[in-house]
Amino acid sequence: MSDIENVLHENRFFPPPREFQSQSRLSSEAAYQRMYKASIDDPETFFGRVANELPWMKPFTRVLDWSQAPFAQWFVGGQLNASAICLDQHITTQGSAKRAIIWEGEPGDTRTLTYAELHLEVCRFANVLKGRGIKRGDRVVIYMPMIPEAAMAMLACARIGAAHSVVFGGFSAQSLKDRIQDGACTAVITADGSFRRGAVLPLKATVDEALTGLTGVKNVIVVQRAKNKVAWTQGRDHWYHDLLSRASSECEPEAMESEDLLFLLYTSGSTGRPKGIVHTTGGYMVGAYMSAQYVFDLKEDDVFWCTADVGWITGHSYIVYGPLANGATIVMYEGAPNTPHQGRMWEIVDKHKVTIFYTAPTAIRTFMRWGEEIPAKYKLNTLRLLGTVGESINPEAWMWYHRNIGRERCPIVDTWWQTETGSIMITPLPGITATQPGSATRPFFGVDVAVVDEAGRELPANHGGYLVIRKPWPSMLRGIWGDKERYVENYWGKFKTMYFAGDGARRDDKGNFWILGRVDDVINVSGHRLSTMEVESSLVSHAKVAEAAVVGRPDELTGQAICAFVTCVGDVKPDDALRAELMEHVAREIGKLARPSEIRFSEALPKTRSGKIMRRLLRDIAAGTETVGDTSTLEDFSVLARLRADEE
Ligand code: WT7
Repeated sequence: MSDIENVLHENRFFPPPREFQSQSRLSSEAAYQRMYKASIDDPETFFGRVANELPWMKPFTRVLDWSQAPFAQWFVGGQLNASAICLDQHITTQGSAKRAIIWEGEPGDTRTLTYAELHLEVCRFANVLKGRGIKRGDRVVIYMPMIPEAAMAMLACARIGAAHSVVFGGFSAQSLKDRIQDGACTAVITADGSFRRGAVLPLKATVDEALTGLTGVKNVIVVQRAKNKVAWTQGRDHWYHDLLSRASSECEPEAMESEDLLFLLYTSGSTGRPKGIVHTTGGYMVGAYMSAQYVFDLKEDDVFWCTADVGWITGHSYIVYGPLANGATIVMYEGAPNTPHQGRMWEIVDKHKVTIFYTAPTAIRTFMRWGEEIPAKYKLNTLRLLGTVGESINPEAWMWYHRNIGRERCPIVDTWWQTETGSIMITPLPGITATQPGSATRPFFGVDVAVVDEAGRELPANHGGYLVIRKPWPSMLRGIWGDKERYVENYWGKFKTMYFAGDGARRDDKGNFWILGRVDDVINVSGHRLSTMEVESSLVSHAKVAEAAVVGRPDELTGQAICAFVTCVGDVKPDDALRAELMEHVAREIGKLARPSEIRFSEALPKTRSGKIMRRLLRDIAAGTETVGDTSTLEDFSVLARLRADEE
C-alpha cells in the first residue's frame, strides 16, 4: 500500500495576535514545549499534578495502571464526584453569584442561572431521582432539548452516582429504543417538546413510542417546555415540576471511585449497531477540565458558547463538564441557527457578549452560504477566540470565519478529537501556536500521537498515513458497553499497542498535523491514494461552490473514479459550463489525477443528524446502486437522508 497522497498546499500562517498573546494563559512557545515534553516523558507526574487541582473526596494512590492494557485505570484509589467538581467547589468561594448558564430559547425567552442556583436545582433534581428509586450504578437515558434541565439532569445523575446516556433529541424512536435497551436503562428524562424552526418537536411522544414493548424503564420524568399535549402513562410518567416542588435542596454528592462509570455515549460504527462508548469519572474529568482551560484559554470573565448539542461528546465535554469544572459562564441555545432569521447566532453573540465561540465547519459553510452581509450587521466585538470541531475545516471556510466572525482579530483553534478520546487531542493553543487554515496543528499535553504506515512504522514528514495514539490518556474511552472484544478489536486490533480510530493524517515538516479524514474516505485513482477531503477543499475554494462531498466510484480503468456532489452559493445556477470549469479548477489546483470524472449538483448534501456527510449513501448513489429520483438533480436527498440517517 502506498501512502495517502497529500495534495493540499496551504502556505498561510497566522501567528497569535500580540494582544491575545500578552494575556493568554500560556504565552510562549518555550512554555508549551516544556510542558508537552514533561507530559510525555513523565505522564504520571504531569497528570498527577493536574488531577490534584480538582477537589478529590479521597486522594488517589496511583496515577495510572496500564497493566490490563488496553483497559486503563487512572487515579486509582481516588474518589470524587463530577457534579461536586462542576458546582460545589465554586460555591464556597465568591463564585456562587457568578453566572453558570445563560440560556436562550428559540422563541427568544432567556434564563440565567448562577452557580448557586444551578447547584440548588441540581441537588433538588438529584433528590427527585433518588425519590423515584434511581440509585448509584443505574443508567438513565436523557432525551432532551437544549434547555438548562438537560445539563441539570446530567449533573444530577452524576451527583447520585447514576450514569447518564444522553441521546440526541433528533434521534428516532427506534434509535432511542436501541440505546435504552443496550444500556439496560431504568429511567428516561425527557421534555414534552422543544422548539425547532418555529415548530414543536414532540419528544415525549417519541419516548412513548420507544418504550412500547420495553419493560425495564420504570420512570419517565418529563420537563415541561413547549406545553404541547402529551399522552400519559400513570405510574410511569411524572412531571418534573411536580416532583421538584416536593424535593429537598440538600443532597450530598456520592463519593465515586475514579473508575466508576460517568456516562455512556453512543457513536456510530462503520458497520453494525452503534457503540456505547464508556467514560469513567476521574480521567474524564481531568481531561475535560484541563483541555477546556488551556485550549479555550478560559478566564474569569469569559462567556463561552459551544454550539453543539448536549447529545454529542462536544456538548458533554465543552458545554457541561469542562467549562463548569473551570467555573466558567456558558451559553446554551435551544433552536435553529436561522430562526427567526439568518443572523440569529450573531445576534446571540452580541446580546450575551460571548467571548469564545466554538462550532463545526459544516455550520460555518452554512453561514458562508447565507452570505457575509449577515454577520456584517452585528458588532461581534466581544469575541476573542474561535474554535472548530467535527471535521477538517476547508481553508476557504477557515478564512471566511477568520474574516467575517473573528474580524481578523481572534485566533482559531481547530480541535481534533473523538467521542472515544473524551477531550481535545490535537489543537493549537491560542496565544502560542501559529495556525494554518485547515490544520489542527499540534498534540495537546499528554497526547503521544504519530502518523504510521500499514505496518505501524512512523512515517517521515509530509507522508499521509494512519493517525495513532501511542500512550494512554486520562479521558480515553474505557471500552464499548457490554462488548470488551469489540473494543479491543475496533481500536487496538490494527496496531496492537497503539490506539487507532480510523483517521488518516500527515504531519508536515514543522510538526503540524493535517487530518485527512476517515481512512475509509480515501479514494484510489490509478494507484494514487487521495483523501476525499482535499478534493472537497479544492472545490470549495471556487467562488461559486458552497459545499462539496467527494466519493469514489468503481471504475474499470482507474480502479476508482472521483465523483463530486456540489452545492452552489446563493443564486448561482449550475450548468454544464460550471461543471467543466470546476473540473478544470481541481485539475489546476491539485493535478490532473484529482480531476473529478463526474460532478453532480444538488440543493443540499445528505447529512446525519450530527452534521456529518453521509458518504456511504453518496457512494451508493455514485455507484448507481441507489438511485435518487431524477439522476441529474438530487432534490430527493433529504428524504433519503432521513430514511437512512439512523444507520450512519
Ligand atoms: C471524528 C470523530 C470530537 C467531537 C465531534 C465529533 C472527525 C473531529 C476534527 C478536526 C478533522 C475531525 C474525525 C474524528 N474530526 N474533529 N478538527 N479535524 N477531523 O466526534 O462523532 O466522535 O467524530 O470526527 O474524523 O475521528 P465524533
